Amino acid sequence: MHVEMENNREFLYTEKDFKYLAQLAGTRAGISLSSSKRELIYGRLARRLRELGFKSYKQYCDRLKDGDEEELTNFINAITTNVTSFFRENHHFEFLEQNLLPELINNQDDVKQPRLRLWSAGCSSGEEPFSMAMVLQESIPDIKRWDAKILASDLDLNILDIASRGIYPLQRIQGVSLVRRKRWFSLGTGNNEGTGRVGNDIRQMVTFRQLNLTADWPMRGSFDAIFCRNVTIYFDKPTRIRLLNRFANLLSDDGHLFVGHSESLFGLTDRFRSVGRTIHQKVC
Ligand SMILES: C[S@@+](CC[C@H](N)C(=O)[O-])C[C@H]1O[C@@H](n2cnc3c(N)ncnc32)[C@H](O)[C@@H]1O
Repeated sequence: MHVEMENNREFLYTEKDFKYLAQLAGTRAGISLSSSKRELIYGRLARRLRELGFKSYKQYCDRLKDGDEEELTNFINAITTNVTSFFRENHHFEFLEQNLLPELINNQDDVKQPRLRLWSAGCSSGEEPFSMAMVLQESIPDIKRWDAKILASDLDLNILDIASRGIYPLQRIQGVSLVRRKRWFSLGTGNNEGTGRVGNDIRQMVTFRQLNLTADWPMRGSFDAIFCRNVTIYFDKPTRIRLLNRFANLLSDDGHLFVGHSESLFGLTDRFRSVGRTIHQKVC
């Protein structure tokens, strides 16, 4: 009965295929896929199979077993989601503006060129780091004097390509306030009609890099704040614990970590204290 159901579908998909894919997602990207994700994985990968002309998930698994690096990347990209938006979970940007930046500005009054480093870890198509840059530009009156930079990283090269262009369909920027739209975006013309482009003052603050959060990182820190939001939902507990530890190591003393609305640090680490809704400050 079970097999018959599988044969009725576009691609043959067995429990063995799912187990292999789930195990691979775990070892490659620390992504945890319980058996409840069986159908989700079928749906997410069906397009890849179609593009490759395969008839079954076994064929797809064999391709991955051959160690095809490009396909391994496509595989991880297909099973993660890139959903994001400008000023998503806006209370984080308000905290940045009203709490974190005023304190940093106060501490840097006598410094010739104050240094500020933020990291958007799992930046998707760029809305998050660009929103951070807008807040910095708006909140630091003498920003030109500052050495202020935002690192924006993601595993997914395709999405980073979109991010680094900084060009968005108008409906993606509709939720941004009119004041900000006018100040920080220019409207596309000609081929870019119907799009908004993030202005140079914002773009030049952001550096996009490919980085797997579960692999080695090239940078040594330190960051004043890390935004890692709606990324660790895919990770198993040991991976999350390790990641939080590494974030704490890279943050400056008292540095802040912003996580997504469904990501709790409870029971995972004692290196942070909660200072707001899904906002944490490093304590050690
Ligand atoms: C849902 S988006 C979140 C975007 C943004 N942080 C936000 O909250 O709007 C999750 C992003 O995490 C990235 N991601 C997933 N696993 C990753 C990993 N192991 N290393 C780096 N990025 C990863 C995905 O490619 C995706 O772009």
